[in-house]
Amino acid sequence: MRVLLTGSSGWLGRFLAPRLREDGHEVTGLDVAPGADTQILGSVADRALVERTFADHGIEAVIHSGALHKPDIVRYKRQAFIDGNVTGTLNLLEAAAAAGNDRFVFTSTTSLMVSEALHRGALDRALWMTEDYGPLEPRNIYGVTKLAAEQLCRLAHREHGLPVCILRTSRFFPEEDDTRRDRSGPNIKANEFLNRRLTVEDAAEAHVAALARAPVLGFGTFIVSAPPPFSPRDCEALALDAAAVVERYFPDAPRLYAGAGWTLPARIDRVYVPAAAEAGLGFRARTDFASILEAIAQGRQLPFVHDPSYVSPKERAVEGEKATC
Ligand SMILES: NC(=O)c1ccc[n+]([C@@H]2O[C@H](COP(=O)([O-])OP(=O)(O)OC[C@H]3O[C@@H](n4cnc5c(N)ncnc54)[C@H](O)[C@@H]3O)[C@@H](O)[C@H]2O)c1
Repeated sequence: MRVLLTGSSGWLGRFLAPRLREDGHEVTGLDVAPGADTQILGSVADRALVERTFADHGIEAVIHSGALHKPDIVRYKRQAFIDGNVTGTLNLLEAAAAAGNDRFVFTSTTSLMVSEALHRGALDRALWMTEDYGPLEPRNIYGVTKLAAEQLCRLAHREHGLPVCILRTSRFFPEEDDTRRDRSGPNIKANEFLNRRLTVEDAAEAHVAALARAPVLGFGTFIVSAPPPFSPRDCEALALDAAAVVERYFPDAPRLYAGAGWTLPARIDRVYVPAAAEAGLGFRARTDFASILEAIAQGRQLPFVHDPSYVSPKERAVEGEKATC
């Protein structure tokens, strides 16, 4: 199929574009920043550009991953989030519907399920979070605009019959967490595979699965994350002593972690549950917490990328412009 991939220069885009080509798709990449897989330089907020791209490239399907996201909150005004994440999504949905596309995949985020109270650690038990979790009260402009974009997807399906899969993706960024310094970066990431992370390769694979399934499903929202080892019965204990719960499931974890100089999480406040994606998309992340323990035990390279130097390519473009001024 002729697929329009937005955000093609970004972290996800550089894994997803080649993966789509591997399946025989013809990929047109659109991004505000240049990249190896980007043919169209510009913003999804530019309606004329979006319409031209559909006409010139005969677009048959869309994977919409381009967005301002959490680290951009300190760099951009709220209006830029509305323009790119909301108006941009509307432009793509309407162009896709007008072109008679039969599938649209939207990269959303589990972050829109995180309220201020959850973020503050004010809850006394871990939340078992499925797609039905609500009411949703996103705590920042990123979550608010992603939720608005999800609702636009829902509307486009209802009004135009456009088949849409929304992927509420958990963390897969390679850089340091901008809010935490209590453990080393790799240790933090490894811990997150218990409840709120997946590899970028698995995130790409989920999009491939959603692209294949969207026409059959019509409309669906799916949490995409590594399968957690826990059950809802663990939620109280996870908030009190997560390390003890982890040790119950993985008796070798404390020893392996000690060898790596790492520590298990003291508290887990939420568990993203990807069961619907497994049932509806046939997608299950290949890398989970057990894979990480296995890699440590066998002295192999960790099965996820940690790259503190990663910067979104649009920031590099901005830096480049400043440097040439
Ligand atoms: N990285 C994560 O952990 C994570 C977690 C959940 C969801 N997501 C979502 O995954 C998607 C990809 O994120 P990423 O981690 O690859 O980030 P990234 O910043 O590396 O890539 C995003 C890309 O989108 C492009 N972009 C931004 N605004 C645009 C616009 N208006 N028009 C066209 N392109 C635009 C950027 O230039 C960038 O190349 C985003 O939608 C993000 O919200 C990311």
